[in-house]
Amino acid sequence: MRHFLNTQDWSADELSGLLDLATELKANPINDRLHGKSVALLFLNPSMRTRTSFQLGMQQMGGIAIVLEPGKDAWGVEFNPGVVMDGDAEEHIAEVAGVLSRYVDLVGIRAFPKFQDWSQDRTDFVIRALAKHSSVPVINMETIVHPCQEMALMQTLRERLGEVKKRKMVLTWTWHPKPLNTAVANSALLIGTKFGLDVTLLCPEEAYLLDEQFMDAAAANAEASGGSLQVSHDIESAYAGAEVVYAKSWGALPHYGRPAEEWELRKQYRHFMVDEAKMALTDNALFSHCLPLRRNIKASDAVMDADYCVAIDEAENRLHVQKAIMLELLGEGAS
Ligand code: CP
Repeated sequence: MRHFLNTQDWSADELSGLLDLATELKANPINDRLHGKSVALLFLNPSMRTRTSFQLGMQQMGGIAIVLEPGKDAWGVEFNPGVVMDGDAEEHIAEVAGVLSRYVDLVGIRAFPKFQDWSQDRTDFVIRALAKHSSVPVINMETIVHPCQEMALMQTLRERLGEVKKRKMVLTWTWHPKPLNTAVANSALLIGTKFGLDVTLLCPEEAYLLDEQFMDAAAANAEASGGSLQVSHDIESAYAGAEVVYAKSWGALPHYGRPAEEWELRKQYRHFMVDEAKMALTDNALFSHCLPLRRNIKASDAVMDADYCVAIDEAENRLHVQKAIMLELLGEGAS
């Protein structure tokens, strides 16, 4: 049984096959291929796109989706093993996964890191605990990576650019008042290098580098795919010649869990917001972002409203790639 926890568990050919299937589903969205099947979607954090696209995607293929918000409309869940459960959680993931596996055919989970201890959060222990105790496939709806977002980004780039190999993609840190999850940045780095793009990670200073497990995986991906990975702290040279600008804000890991301390760094870097002047440095680049996005904080109105902004396309493609992932995990991927 396979899960969809991280694109690193899937080969580039397998991911490419999933994108082909997503394209087929985009052309023919309504079918009966998951008639009688079900997915439980566990949201430990808010969502608009992920929730809507998974629910709708299942329905468009004849199945049903059940949304649960542990700690709100479902019992709070403990994920660590061997814990004396005298806190807020009423049940353990061992029982939650066991029970849901008897009810449904797939389980998705969104569980952002807790922003307290990166040495624990970097292990992705919540989704790994779910996968360990589940006897049905598990889908990552965003933890410390966001593989469904990665797939939507790559489908969008393939639609707009055709061959993506050796295209220059800048993954730029952008301004935001709070230290956010690194998941989408980790994911953009992984998928860009996996598909052979020349990826430049632009961030204000070394403290904003991503966790070494993702930096190392991206370097290995680039080696295998014929792409490349560079790090830059210089806005002008990083944007120069780019064909894709992908923006995300994230927190500085050396200051993880200490936002006031991190602010002392962050407050200097408002000028990392993506604007027309920066986009003018590129080779007519596409711009995208996973959304949600604070306008005139992360990117200007002019960038968001430009023809080169494909963020809405990427959000739409979440629907199609997730349908492909659900089909593949249930052994229904072949048309
Ligand atoms: N991009 C994304 O996952 O959006 P939501 O947080 O709205 O699900």
